Amino acid sequence: MKKNLSELAIWGNSPIFENQIPVGQINLPSWEYFCDSFHDLFERRYYTNHGVLTQEFEEKLCRLLGTRYALVMTNATIALSLACKGLNLPVGGKVIVPSFTFAATVQALSWAGLEPVFCDITHHSHLITPDTVAPLLDTPGVCAILGVHLWGNACDADGLTKLAKERDISIFFDAAHAIGCTHRGFSIGGFGSCEVFSFHGTKILTSTEGGCITTNDDDLAERLRNLRSSYGRRMTVPIPIAGYGRFSEAQAAFGLLSLEDFPKNCAANEKRMHLYVEGLRAVPGIRFLLPTPGERHNYQYVVLEIEEKEFGLSRDALVRILEAENVLVRRYFVPGMHRCVPYKTQFPQYMNTLPVTDALCEKVMQVPSGQRVTDGDITVICDLIRFVHTHAKKLKGALPKREEPQQ
Ligand SMILES: Cc1ncc(COP(=O)(O)O)c(C=O)c1O
Repeated sequence: MKKNLSELAIWGNSPIFENQIPVGQINLPSWEYFCDSFHDLFERRYYTNHGVLTQEFEEKLCRLLGTRYALVMTNATIALSLACKGLNLPVGGKVIVPSFTFAATVQALSWAGLEPVFCDITHHSHLITPDTVAPLLDTPGVCAILGVHLWGNACDADGLTKLAKERDISIFFDAAHAIGCTHRGFSIGGFGSCEVFSFHGTKILTSTEGGCITTNDDDLAERLRNLRSSYGRRMTVPIPIAGYGRFSEAQAAFGLLSLEDFPKNCAANEKRMHLYVEGLRAVPGIRFLLPTPGERHNYQYVVLEIEEKEFGLSRDALVRILEAENVLVRRYFVPGMHRCVPYKTQFPQYMNTLPVTDALCEKVMQVPSGQRVTDGDITVICDLIRFVHTHAKKLKGALPKREEPQQ
């Protein structure tokens, strides 16, 4: 551990970690299982178009999530766009969506020809609520609410669905972070008209790339199947323009292996989260965004907020110091989507209407978790953060300036 401020890597010294420790790490299955699975795939010579592995993966997802349908797709971004089409949201229609989310949530709406109506969140949960959504429902042209179960914690699905029903508009959820999580004891997957999951390489359940739409609605499932344009469709619903969001057998093979390891990976990440919470408990100005008590969680992310006044340094300054030590913590989300191109110029009306989003964009960061992060790594990362806090006053004026890239 570094003993003096002058030893920090931000001044050009060697980093404390020889190799970079990123936030998003793929949870790899064992090499033997991977080889067996791909050997079978090669023997069958059937690589895509709703093959046996894809069907098995879909069945297992339905069982895990308790839904009638799980339609796997190329990735969650395409799945979100196809969900908009499946729900028959009209081109030019407006969708209420948080600005505090990953870019793909909003960009998927744009691909579907829809306009975002940016909504604020509550500080304690980082989620939209009926209270933050309600004032936007009178916006002319609103046809849907797209909630995001950020960090695996669920939005108030009941309250939001009630609002959507009263206004006769659609409601669906971006559940990219929420595989295996529950809301009021029910698996996320069955709320709203449909929910969309991501199996990207950085997700705790991964098919390297991939996503799926879950629903209990027979008609919607049929439309989505045809929109996806994979085999296995029955063509009982005419779809003039398909989306080609097919899922390959290679993705399914990886996904099935990841599904087997899923409980083990969640438990290991839970332990990592507790180590961080313990290690940073006494540090002023650090607040963890923890799983909702009483719910099942996947522990995919370890999310915290840095309160500059109490910690002594801003989140951005801390990130720079840690990055220099090869701890690749990530700032989320910088800036909010309403301040990113093209939305900041297309819809300038949201610029100063989202105070909680704007404040959180300055504070939130994720620390590394996942298969390759050891208990020892976490101890060192926590020691480093405590060290930075102890010396925050001296560091404050001393850090070299850094230009922020234009969004
Ligand atoms: C909230 C959210 N929505 C959507 C996506 C897009 O997922 P994918 O990379 O599978 O397209 C992500 C990706 O991380 C995400 O975090």
